Amino acid sequence: MNQLLDLITEEVKLAFDKAGYDSKYGKTSLSNRPDLCEFQCNGAMAAAKEYKKAPIMIAEDVLSNLKDNKMFSEAEAVKPGFLNFKISGDYLSKYVEKMHSDDRFGLDVTDDKKTIIIDYGGPNVAKPLHVGHLRSAVIGESIKRTARYIGHNVIGDVHLGDWGLQMGLIITELRERQPNLCYFDENFDGEYPEEAPFTIAELEEIYPFASGKSKEDEEYKEKALEATKELQKGRRGYKALLNHILTISVNDLKKNYEKLNVSFDLWKGESDAEEYIDDMVQSMKDKGLAYESDGALVVDVKLDSDKKEVPPCMILKSDGASLYTTTDLATLVWRVKDYKPDRIIYVVDNRQEMHFVQVFRCAKKAGVVPEDTDLEFLGFGTMNGPNGKPFKTREGGVMRLEYLLDEINDKMYEKIRENDNMTEDEAKKVASIVSLAAVKYGDLSNQASKDYIFDVEKFTSSEGNTGPYILYTIVRIKSILNKYMQDNSMDNLHILPPESECTKNLMLEIVKYQNAIISAYEESAPSKICAFIYDLCNSFNHFYHETKILSCEDLEKKKGYIALIKLTKEVLEQCIDLLGFSAPEKM
Ligand code: ARG
Repeated sequence: MNQLLDLITEEVKLAFDKAGYDSKYGKTSLSNRPDLCEFQCNGAMAAAKEYKKAPIMIAEDVLSNLKDNKMFSEAEAVKPGFLNFKISGDYLSKYVEKMHSDDRFGLDVTDDKKTIIIDYGGPNVAKPLHVGHLRSAVIGESIKRTARYIGHNVIGDVHLGDWGLQMGLIITELRERQPNLCYFDENFDGEYPEEAPFTIAELEEIYPFASGKSKEDEEYKEKALEATKELQKGRRGYKALLNHILTISVNDLKKNYEKLNVSFDLWKGESDAEEYIDDMVQSMKDKGLAYESDGALVVDVKLDSDKKEVPPCMILKSDGASLYTTTDLATLVWRVKDYKPDRIIYVVDNRQEMHFVQVFRCAKKAGVVPEDTDLEFLGFGTMNGPNGKPFKTREGGVMRLEYLLDEINDKMYEKIRENDNMTEDEAKKVASIVSLAAVKYGDLSNQASKDYIFDVEKFTSSEGNTGPYILYTIVRIKSILNKYMQDNSMDNLHILPPESECTKNLMLEIVKYQNAIISAYEESAPSKICAFIYDLCNSFNHFYHETKILSCEDLEKKKGYIALIKLTKEVLEQCIDLLGFSAPEKM
C-alpha cells in the first residue's frame, strides 16, 4: 500500500504537470508549520528560477488544478510561493480504514528480498555478560526483527568470543588445580568424560582469577599463551575442555538472553572459524597480499584517501597464533560459503571501528567476500552511569548485566506496588515485563552511535519519553477495549471521518507507520520506531483526554472510536515487538 505522503505528492505532481510545469517540483512533505497546514510543497520557489516567473504565480497556477481535489479539505497558495494543504477527513479516514483492515497495517513485504546476517551479542564464554554486551544484544535484536518484518531473510549470529587467550587462561588454571585430569595427559587416547569437570559458577570464578594472576606472574602468563597456541593447533584434551566450557557457557548465556527477549539463529563462535584459517592464509600468501613484518604476517589495507592512519591488518602473530582479525576474516569464509549473504551487519562497540575497517578491507582485497557484499559496521556508543562515566559497580569493577537488570526490576516493582491493584505475584510478573521495556526503550530511543546515560529514575518513570509511558498507553487502550467488549461485539468496526482536531491528529500520526518502519530498517535505526510511537502515544493520550469514548451516546460514532483506538493499540504492539519487548495486561 502506498504511503499517504506519496499519494499526495503524486496528486501535486500531476497538478504541476497540468499547469505546464515540470512535475518534479511537486514533491510534498509534512508541514513544518502544523499550526498552518498539514502538508506543504515548496516546489514553486524552485520552479521560479527555471520558468523565470514569480513563485506565487506558479503556486496559483498549480493550485487551480487542485481546488476541487477531493483529497484536500483546504489548499492554498501563500506568499512567497508555498502550497499549503490540509487533507480531507473523508480521504484520511478511508486511508486509515485500509490500514485497519490489513494485518500489516499497509506495510508491504519487500519485493527485493535480501539475505542479511546480523552479528550481534558477541559475549565471551566463561565471562559473565556485562553492561557493554547489553547494547549489542538490544540493538541487534531490534534490527533483526525489523529486517525480518520487512520480508528479508535474516540470520542472527551470536559470534561467541571463544578463541583467544581467555581459553588458554582457563585451561592453565584448571591444570594448576586439577593436574591429574585426563585432559592434561598427552598419552590419554580414550573417550573424554561427558560431564564437565567444573560448573558455571566455578568457571566464572576461574577466569577472573586466572586473568588477574597472569598480570602478576610472567611464567603463568607464558603457560597460558602456550596453552592457547596448543589449543589452536588442535590438542585433543584442550579441545575437549573447550567443548565443555562452551556447552556450559552457552546454556547459561541462553538463559540470560531469554530474559532479555533476545534469541539467535546461530550460536557460532570464533572457534568455528578455525578450520578455515589455514587455507585462507595460504591464499592470501599466494595472491602476494600477505607478507612478513617483524615476524608477523600482515596485509596492507591503507588507502590514499585515508584521513586517519590505517595500520596493516595482522593475520598471524609471530608465534603463528591467530588473532581477533584472523577469526573475523575466517568467519567470513563460512558465512559466504553457507549463506551467500547480501549484507552482513556487525553491531559492535564504536571502539572497535578500526578493527572492522581493517577486516572489511582485507576481506574485499583478498576476495574472502565478493565485491558486492555489503559489510557494515554499526558502532554503538558507551552506556554511561549517572556520573557520565562508563558504568561501574560501587567498588569500581565492571558491572554485571544481571545486577543492573535486578536494580531496575526492583525499582519498577516498588513503583507498581505503590498502586496496589495487584497481588504480589502479579506485580512481580508485571515488573519484569515493564523493566525490560524500560531498559530496552531507554537504550533504543537514543541514536545508536551516541553515548547515553543509564538513568534508572528516568527510565522507570511513566511520564516522558520512556518505555513505561509507552506501555501505560497500551494498557490504557486495552482496558477501554476490554470494557467495551463486555457488552459489545468487536465485529464490523470501521474508522469514521474525524470530527475533532484531536481525532484527526491521531489519524495523521498513525499514517506515519510505514515510513517509520522503513526508515528504521534502511538506516538501521530503531530510534526511528521509538520516535514514532512516542508521538503516537502523545496523540492518543491527547485524544483520550478530549474525547468521551465509552460514554459516547452516538453508537456509530463510538464504534468508530473503538476501531481507531484498536488500530492504535495494534500498531503500537507491532512496534514494540520490533523493539523486542511487550506490554502487560494491566499496570
Ligand atoms: N566478543 C567481542 C567483545 O566482547 C565482540 C564480538 C563482535 N563481533 C565480531 N564479529 N567481532 O568485544
